[in-house]
Amino acid sequence: MWNKAYREKRDMAYPSEYVIRILKGKYPRLNLDKANFKGKKFCDMGCGDGRNVALAKECGFLPHGVEITDDIVAKIQENLKNIGITDADIRAGMNNNIPFDEAYFDYLMSWNACYYMGEETDFNNYVKEFARVLKSEGYLLLSIPKKTCFIFDSSEQDRPGYNVIRDDYFGYRNGEILRIFEDEQEIEDTFSPYFKNFIHASIHDDCFGLAYHWHLTVCQRK
Ligand SMILES: C[S@@+](CC[C@H](N)C(=O)[O-])C[C@H]1O[C@@H](n2cnc3c(N)ncnc32)[C@H](O)[C@@H]1O
Repeated sequence: MWNKAYREKRDMAYPSEYVIRILKGKYPRLNLDKANFKGKKFCDMGCGDGRNVALAKECGFLPHGVEITDDIVAKIQENLKNIGITDADIRAGMNNNIPFDEAYFDYLMSWNACYYMGEETDFNNYVKEFARVLKSEGYLLLSIPKKTCFIFDSSEQDRPGYNVIRDDYFGYRNGEILRIFEDEQEIEDTFSPYFKNFIHASIHDDCFGLAYHWHLTVCQRK
């Protein structure tokens, strides 16, 4: 499904506005240590077309990314090369099998990507794997759809905490099982065995009729 989606897309899009805000902005409850991004290892899990890997590079990070197939990885490398980035380490892997050593990263981001279950049945295995590759005090940056997000329109409960998509707005996610969280507290409870210092934000945007509703979470590895 994702292979096809990316094959049909010719160009890399711009980074997500809220990834730019997190990495470059200054907010009352979030102000990452931007002066020390240089040389830190940043991993974008489920990095799509590579748009946010390019931003990480521009911020001074050592850019890394993971996508689920070799075809998508090749496409990302091509996209990045087209804009002059040749030193990003992009590998094939999954949320439950990240192809890097333990305590490897200073920052790990999963932007609109951590809740796709694929063949995995237990979201806690994703949490454990994110924790494995992050250094102690390393940052985890997440975006997760709210229950009211358009993504869950016409979805059905598969079992508590997991919904199956039936009528995807973009037409390519039907049949996929996604982790669905009740609220910020449930996100915090799920990640708190390995993570601390949770900071939450919320996007609640009626984007020309599309319910663009997301939880944004930043926390640190214990
Ligand atoms: C909505 S796209 C987001 C892509 C990118 N993060 C962005 O913001 O543009 C979701 C991505 O998650 C990836 N994905 C799906 N299942 C995954 C899994 N089990 N582990 C890691 N990534 C996965 C897909 O290949 C897809 O690129």
